[in-house]
Amino acid sequence: MQGFAGKVAVVTGAGSGIGQALAIELGRSGAHVAISDIDAEGLAATEDRLKAIGAQVKTDRLNVTEREAFEVYADAVAEHFGKVNQIYNNAGIAYVGDVEVTPFKDIERVIDVDFWGVVNGTKAFLPHLIASGDGHVINVSSLFGIFSVPGQAAYNSAKFAVRGFTESLYQEMAISGQPVAVTSVHPGGIKTAIMRNSTAADGVDRENLTTFFDKRLTMTTPEKAAKEILDGVRKKKARVLVGPDAKVLDFLVRLSGARYQTLFSSAISRFLPPVH
Ligand SMILES: NC(=O)c1ccc[n+]([C@@H]2O[C@H](COP(=O)([O-])OP(=O)(O)OC[C@H]3O[C@@H](n4cnc5c(N)ncnc54)[C@H](O)[C@@H]3O)[C@@H](O)[C@H]2O)c1
Repeated sequence: MQGFAGKVAVVTGAGSGIGQALAIELGRSGAHVAISDIDAEGLAATEDRLKAIGAQVKTDRLNVTEREAFEVYADAVAEHFGKVNQIYNNAGIAYVGDVEVTPFKDIERVIDVDFWGVVNGTKAFLPHLIASGDGHVINVSSLFGIFSVPGQAAYNSAKFAVRGFTESLYQEMAISGQPVAVTSVHPGGIKTAIMRNSTAADGVDRENLTTFFDKRLTMTTPEKAAKEILDGVRKKKARVLVGPDAKVLDFLVRLSGARYQTLFSSAISRFLPPVH
């Protein structure tokens, strides 16, 4: 893909799924890539593939919830490559459970990774992106940052928060004239390990839900998702909807307004397997 050659791009959660595909597509497009994850094995696989392409890669173990480590990491990436142009705040986790039966600690964990991880990454890298004169913050929210579904209150909260944070930042950068583009990414169902890696409230049939998610709710490969995201980044789009399901559902939600909740809850109770 054009427009990425010589750029320094940082990808969190690069050991699997969308993050891995983004890192590889960036490497193929001539970007220098800083990859990180908490999963050392997945990260090593991504590194091997980037090296095989001939891409310049810096690989680090980084937990996105560790704010101070993120700040040290940002300085180290800038020093290693001499600049930083793009951060893809992609690392994330999924959780399934109705509000009534979800312990506070599980909601906090999802918010910690899926929201605070994005805030930590954005704030740690923003000074470097501004200094580059050609910066871009790319925050991965979800289709679940556009509408809510039952059993996903924690995830929905985090992903709506990512969208709010990102859209505010977009306007701040525009008003202050800073050289930083901002993109909020909203994937639909992507064929990754996210559901298999998820946790759930007691009594949730995770096995059944994972099979259903993998077979019926994922229409887009991570490679296709990465290409759609990078195309949006290249065009400096404020919002990127990834996959046909994301585009159709976003349209339906805008069309029905708050009534989508009634429509979705009756459709979901008919077609989806029960959460418990
Ligand atoms: N797969 C989908 O259908 C889908 C849909 C919408 C949004 N998303 C979002 O896309 C992003 C990527 O998800 P994916 O589908 O590729 O999932 P994935 O499980 O395949 O990959 C996520 C990666 O993030 C890493 N990670 C988890 N917690 C971390 C932490 N604290 N610090 C650093 N790394 C951590 C994991 O080790 C893993 O390698 C997530 O933010 C997810 O919420 C995914």
